[in-house]
Amino acid sequence: MQFKCFSCFLCDKEQSEIQNEKEKKKRDYPWEIYTLKELLRATNNFHQDNKIGEGGFGSVYWGRTSKGVEIAVKRLKMMTAKAEMEFAVEVEVLGRVRHKNLLGLRGFYAGGEERLIVYDYMPNHSLLNHLHGQLAKDCLLDWPRRMSIAIGAAEGLVYLHHEANPHIIHRDIKASNVLLDSEFEAKVADFGFAKLIPEGVSHLTTRVKGTLGYLAPEYAMWGKVSESCDVYSFGILLLEIVSAKKPIEKLQGGVKRDIVQWVTPHVQKGNFTHIVDSKLKGRFDLEQLKSVIMIAIRCTESNPEKRPSMVEVVEWLKGGIGRRKKEIPNLIHTNEDDKYEENYGEIRRTQSKLKIPSDDDKLRIR
Ligand SMILES: Nc1ncnc2c1ncn2[C@@H]1O[C@H](COP(=O)(O)OP(=O)(O)OP(=O)(O)O)[C@@H](O)[C@H]1O
Ligand SMILES: [Mg+2]
Repeated sequence: MQFKCFSCFLCDKEQSEIQNEKEKKKRDYPWEIYTLKELLRATNNFHQDNKIGEGGFGSVYWGRTSKGVEIAVKRLKMMTAKAEMEFAVEVEVLGRVRHKNLLGLRGFYAGGEERLIVYDYMPNHSLLNHLHGQLAKDCLLDWPRRMSIAIGAAEGLVYLHHEANPHIIHRDIKASNVLLDSEFEAKVADFGFAKLIPEGVSHLTTRVKGTLGYLAPEYAMWGKVSESCDVYSFGILLLEIVSAKKPIEKLQGGVKRDIVQWVTPHVQKGNFTHIVDSKLKGRFDLEQLKSVIMIAIRCTESNPEKRPSMVEVVEWLKGGIGRRKKEIPNLIHTNEDDKYEENYGEIRRTQSKLKIPSDDDKLRIR
């Protein structure tokens, strides 16, 4: 219903200008409908110097409103039917979710060729920037911060999977979509790929979207979407947070290796200290590290049915890294898993052959 109202809004620009005030009062969402003039002024006409970054669907600009509030404006590239749908889905989804670990939507603008989404600006940028980008050398993410970011992002996902109504599968969990506020609290961003899952539906089959290296095998191969695809991506993210390794690494001779392949022999040999990010200079809690890695291994199980729910992940993360450590259930390998392993190997090989998205941020850090 809200989706329909939103589409009408897109179709009838002039009408919408007049309707804005009325609509704002009617909706109980705390979003604003911005004017183009306001956003052009805030971003200095989308000046190159204001550009924070660029993603698959457009560029993100830093701005300051006339009230002095810092904002991030995502300017969608072009209005193909597909992008139009992404925009509508993102606004619809973001408008209804509110949680301390999800990036808040401030508002949007839709008119002519322009589709702009306005978010809270996150002064500490993304995890990607801290793990592999321009901020990596500053090593601002000490061990406790990494652990609280992992728990925060997991709690954001618990909200999407279990508390939002209808449930939401993110489908693009990755380091650039975990933003950090002034206190380094995690905010999961980018619901442009999200699909709203009706009650009682266990999974949907759909076109594969998402980012290589983070894709669950059943999603990449058969397009099967369920909450456990996000659990898989979250497992990859956990490994990335503790090791600062990329989900897929290029080795000499052009061979590519994913992070699970890299971590597995270390875990088998009990070489946990080889896994942790060397930039931490040994300042980490070994027991917590072991817990996190075991949780990540459970999350990246080939068989989606063997992966935990995000509720369990949060419980284990809190239990495993809190004072009263809870034991994380051990892995039990069954013949059933071999079937998945065969296919899993195949998808690993396929993902490794494809081009890795560039994450050398040539982007300005404000
Ligand atoms: N609200 C925000 N505050 C600060 N930085 C942001 C904000 N929103 C996005 N960014 C940063 O801008 C950059 C581009 O984001 P964008 O979401 O467009 O692309 P992406 O996440 O890299 O890829 P994808 O298009 O697949 O989501 C990323 O580095 C992201 O972390
Ligand atoms: Mg993003």
